[in-house]
Amino acid sequence: MTEVKVEKLKEFNQEILERLVEIYMRGYEGMREYGGEGEGYAKRYLRWCWNKAKDGFFIAKLGDEIAGFIVCDNDWYSKYEGRTVGAIHEFVVDKRFQGHGIGHKLMEKCLDYLRKYNDRIELWVGEKNEGAMRFYEEHSFRKVGQSGIWVRMVKDVHDKG
Ligand code: ACO
Repeated sequence: MTEVKVEKLKEFNQEILERLVEIYMRGYEGMREYGGEGEGYAKRYLRWCWNKAKDGFFIAKLGDEIAGFIVCDNDWYSKYEGRTVGAIHEFVVDKRFQGHGIGHKLMEKCLDYLRKYNDRIELWVGEKNEGAMRFYEEHSFRKVGQSGIWVRMVKDVHDKG
């Protein structure tokens, strides 16, 4: 596979939004209940992500093509923690490219970024999304609770200085 590069998303235009929606829709194929009700939802949600966490919106590129992305928010008020923590709002790799280590590269970038600002990271994952939960456990996230169909996972991080 061509070399994967992870970089910060610099601008959020219509063409990029459409590519991100495509990755998102394809990524959640077979898990519709966790990916919203369709493209309209995906567009609104990804715009919300961009507005909330521009600085931590990372993409993986294979040549010129965006292959996946992760949205890392260093200023998320968690009502479960009662304080501000880091959060991963969204994380998807194009179905065609899953299982080749792109997710791990995106996660490393995200952790390096968030540990500069936060000592804890929170995320929510669908209760039947075994693959993603296994992935997060490999990165030392642990399950700490559940609300409806969503499982809350957290990881403690430390700035390397
Ligand atoms: N079956 C088995 N293992 C899986 C699966 C699956 N369907 N999905 C993920 N994994 C895990 C395995 O533990 C595997 O571990 P290994 O490295 O020891 O083999 C690892 O993921 C694979 O690592 P990568 O190849 O680096 O991961 P990938 O590029 O496939 O990206 C991701 C992982 C983002 C979870 C991808 O599978 C995906 O897009 N899934 C659909 C969307 C999704 O569920 N996103 C997370 C939702 S929660 C949130 O966004 C906060």
